[in-house]
Amino acid sequence: MDGNGRWARRRHLPRATGHRAGVSTIRPVMEACHAAGVHILTLYAFSTENWSRPRHEVAALMQLFGDTIDSEVGEMNAEGIQIRAIGDRSKLSPRLQKKVRAAEEVTSANTRAILNVAINYGGRHEIVAAVRDLAVRGADLSQLDTETLSGALYTAGLPDPDLIIRTAGEMRISNFMLWQAAYAEIYVTETLWPDFGAADIDRALAAYARRDRRFGAVPDAAALVEEAVVAPASL
Ligand code: IPE
Ligand code: MG
Repeated sequence: MDGNGRWARRRHLPRATGHRAGVSTIRPVMEACHAAGVHILTLYAFSTENWSRPRHEVAALMQLFGDTIDSEVGEMNAEGIQIRAIGDRSKLSPRLQKKVRAAEEVTSANTRAILNVAINYGGRHEIVAAVRDLAVRGADLSQLDTETLSGALYTAGLPDPDLIIRTAGEMRISNFMLWQAAYAEIYVTETLWPDFGAADIDRALAAYARRDRRFGAVPDAAALVEEAVVAPASL
């Protein structure tokens, strides 16, 4: 969800106002995803690197997370949305941790859609935490395989993302789901997060639909050509 600061600067408003404006994007985006048949959405709200922002901005963001839980969770729960958080929540204030836990608990039986919020999330941190956790639980790390590591990540039980949308034009992954993004399709739009909406989701999904996902295999057409070349000789 990038571009809140630029959105605010263009209007000569404080950055925190941009972050507040960004919150109102969440609901229409979720609805557009749902209408398109996308039932799992992760929002990258705060990275492990975002702590290096000015203290007042970090404080405003933390306040906003709590306020957003207070204002949104009731309705999301009524709509059958399951809320989850990924990231190292131990660094959040006890008050915010409690709000996050309560939001997860109250929505845990919901099945209509999953809203996953990445807060104090970093892909590198997640992988290191997962390996440490396995070690603490006595796993034989010399036998570690991809399934075991996947199952120890914050995203255990969730499928890998099919599509990663980055708003505000930056062409980088910024420590987001480094492991899970192995074969994710990436869509970058210049649109700033507060300006992003249902029409942008539709555009992103249309672009996604045109992608040829091969997961490392050869393109279908190439495989057919290969068969055509090989088959006559092997007859
Ligand atoms: C993203 O918007 C929101 C968070 C990191 C919480 P930015 O604050 O990074 O906006 P820009 O990049 O300055 O426009
Ligand atoms: Mg940014």
